[in-house]
Order: sequence, then structure tokens, then C-alpha cells
Amino acid sequence: MFNDFYTKYEYGMKMLETELEILLHAFELEHGYTPVEHMKSRLKTMPSMKKKLESKGYEPSIQNIEKHVSDIIGCRIVVSFLSDVYDVVSLISHSPNIIIKERKDYISNPKESGYSSYHLIVLVPVYLEHHVEYIQAEIQVRTVAMDFWASLDHKIRYKFKEAIPVEVQEEMEEYAKDIQELDRKMYHLNQIMNKYQ
Ligand code: GTP
Ligand code: MG
Repeated sequence: MFNDFYTKYEYGMKMLETELEILLHAFELEHGYTPVEHMKSRLKTMPSMKKKLESKGYEPSIQNIEKHVSDIIGCRIVVSFLSDVYDVVSLISHSPNIIIKERKDYISNPKESGYSSYHLIVLVPVYLEHHVEYIQAEIQVRTVAMDFWASLDHKIRYKFKEAIPVEVQEEMEEYAKDIQELDRKMYHLNQIMNKYQ
């Protein structure tokens, strides 16, 4: 039972990775430029899934995991410029093989922490023996600057467990704004560079 469940998501992750590779390669051929700095996917571990269910108040079961954990498959695409985020999101949105279930634009609307990224909850097909099943995955698209902030924020939060001191939180929010400003400046610089080409 557990093996079937995990194998299905392993296939789903491979399916998603392959589709993204194809889409990004096609983009590169068309535009002569690659927006992606790096891309990484991971499958959530069983203890981590159980922890998430507990925090949401659900009993640990396969059914509850599939229903309430939307990031069993997680894929992070780190791009260079702010405009690249929207180009990549648009590319994914137009794929006939990926269904968009939900969009969360934490770039236009950053989270209270200051966290900024574009999230897509998608459905990807997994071709099983007798039928096709669509399973969920979370795709996070962000710039290198946003990734820098999120990585350090993650480390800081981990250190403090849940109770992050107010002054640390406030400073992180301030740096998130600095990052936002830097991303805008870099975007404009890139616009100028594009004019010269
Ligand atoms: P959960 O996944 O249960 O939190 O559901 P949700 O609907 O709140 O999802 P959300 O859109 O908040 O995205 C969750 C993922 O985004 C997390 O697993 C992190 O990878 C990332 N994330 C969200 N908020 C933060 C934050 O404040 N700091 C960092 N470093 N990452 C965050
Ligand atoms: Mg959350």
C-alpha cells in the first residue's frame, strides 16, 4: 500500500521534471536564452508528511496525505530576473500536460514573514497499468535573490523553532523589502541591456 503510494509520486515527479525540461528547452531554442539558474525537485519524506498532517489536525493516513498535503512533490525553479518568473509561469500554464489547480502570487502579495515567490499547485498525469491518475505537485518559481532570502529565513526559523524573536522577524521583513528593490533594479538593468542587443 505504502509502496504503491510512494512509487506513484516518484513517477509523478519524473513526469513533471521531464515536462519542465522539455518546456524550458523549447523556450531556450525560441528565445536563445535560458531564464533558469537552477531547478530542483524533491519528494516529501513520510515523517515530514505526518508532521504536516498533525499540524493541520488530521489523522495520519494515505487518504489524508493525498487530500491535504499539496506538496508531496515539490519543485523549485530559480530564475535570474523578475520577468523570468512570469515567463516560466506562463510557459507552464500553456503546457497541455500540466493542469494548473491553484496560483499563489507571493511576489505581488508577499507573505507576512516577507516571503516572496510564485507558487503553482498543479496536477500531473501518472500512467498506471490500467488508468491515468492526476496527482498534485507544488512548483515554486522565484528569483535568485528571493531564493537567497528564503534559504536564510528557513535556517533562522529552524534555529528558533516556532518562536522567532520579534526583532529578528522585523529585520527579515526589512531585508525582504531590500531584496524586492534589488530585483526591480536588476530587472530594469536587464531591460536596458536588451535594448543594446
Ligand atoms: P502549507 O504548505 O501547509 O504551509 O500550506 P500553505 O497553503 O500555507 O502553502 P504556502 O503557499 O504557504 O507554501 C508553503 C511552502 O512555501 C513552504 O513549504 C515553504 O517552502 C514556502 N514558504 C512559505 N512561507 C515561507 C516563509 O515564510 N519562509 C520560507 N523560507 N519559506 C516559506
Ligand atoms: Mg504555509
